[in-house]
Amino acid sequence: MKTLIVCKSHHHGNTWKIAETIGEVLNAEIIEPKERYSSSLSNYDLLGFGSGIYWARFPGEIFDFVENLPEVEGKKAFTFSTSGMRKIPIINGFGGKIKDKLSEKGFEIVGEFSCRGYNTFFLFKLVGGIQKGKPGDEDLRRAKEFAKRTRNKD
Ligand SMILES: Cc1cc2nc3c(=O)[nH]c(=O)nc-3n(C[C@H](O)[C@H](O)[C@H](O)COP(=O)(O)O)c2cc1C
Repeated sequence: MKTLIVCKSHHHGNTWKIAETIGEVLNAEIIEPKERYSSSLSNYDLLGFGSGIYWARFPGEIFDFVENLPEVEGKKAFTFSTSGMRKIPIINGFGGKIKDKLSEKGFEIVGEFSCRGYNTFFLFKLVGGIQKGKPGDEDLRRAKEFAKRTRNKD
């Protein structure tokens, strides 16, 4: 299953670590959303979209990337994220809206992964940040398991 991962990770590279872990299992190519994919996506069967959570959601760059894709048929997608806080539906829903956007484009959503990531944003910086050392070994192990399950959904 040929896989492309699109990842935005500008705070501490937390989500990029997850992208690399998942990417290794799926033998995926990993790009940033700003590297607008010029060649056709028709070569890919599976696309992964990952990001740090900024202001309780995926960033505009990922939405723009998806918006600029053609409508697809028979393609699968998964999402992944890292965040300072736990996912709480409604106030910190994280990947919900990006999954809706992907479904609108015709993707079948086959999975979602999330874990905590080191966060030094704003006041958290004053106390040396929260979620130090995250994602850690256990998160990377979970990400690997997630990738294996996703691969087996082929
Ligand atoms: C501008 C900004 C806004 C953030 N907003 C949230 C938020 O709403 N909820 C949350 O749980 N974490 C929030 N965080 C923490 C990040 O989601 C967390 O540190 C994440 O692991 C960053 O991933 P990255 O290193 O891949 O960019 C925010 C961080 C920044 C810099």
